[in-house]
Amino acid sequence: MKLILIGFMGSGKTTVGCLLAQKLGLGVIEMDDLIIKKEGKNINKIFAEDGEARFRELESQIAKDLVKKENVVISTGGGVVIKAENIENLKINGKTIFLRTSFLEIKKRLTNIEDRPLFKDKISAEKLFNSRQKLYEKNADLIVDTDGKSVEEVTYEIISQN
Ligand code: S3P
Repeated sequence: MKLILIGFMGSGKTTVGCLLAQKLGLGVIEMDDLIIKKEGKNINKIFAEDGEARFRELESQIAKDLVKKENVVISTGGGVVIKAENIENLKINGKTIFLRTSFLEIKKRLTNIEDRPLFKDKISAEKLFNSRQKLYEKNADLIVDTDGKSVEEVTYEIISQN
């Protein structure tokens, strides 16, 4: 089994991913963490020193490296849907789940914006959010609305539909 969580920053991919993996007895993989480890620096630094394009290359490489993984929950970065090849790779033997969350809720939830270069400016973040919604929906095998729900509720909703 391979479950891939997609959605905007702050939609709960990491927290839901951890609980989901624990409940289903699966491993958990955080794509951003793999990128940070590989480069030896945080996301802000990668964006600032090497540029977003380099970050996207690394993200695509990781998506490719994960094709053979099994029995895992994969938490993606919010921009993974930008490139079709990423989703194609992640979907091999896997099921994508979109954690759909409103921008209002995301603003409330996202207190840690320190290492999120694309969330520093709220106006451009909202534009990015709007431009991404269709992509998440199009690429989702399952959509779970998360507004007003706890991590446990979202997790159980996913489990009940798998
Ligand atoms: C990004 C989301 C981030 C991280 C990077 C870019 C995006 O991941 O990959 O800052 O383009 O939406 P989270 O969704 O885990 O915050």
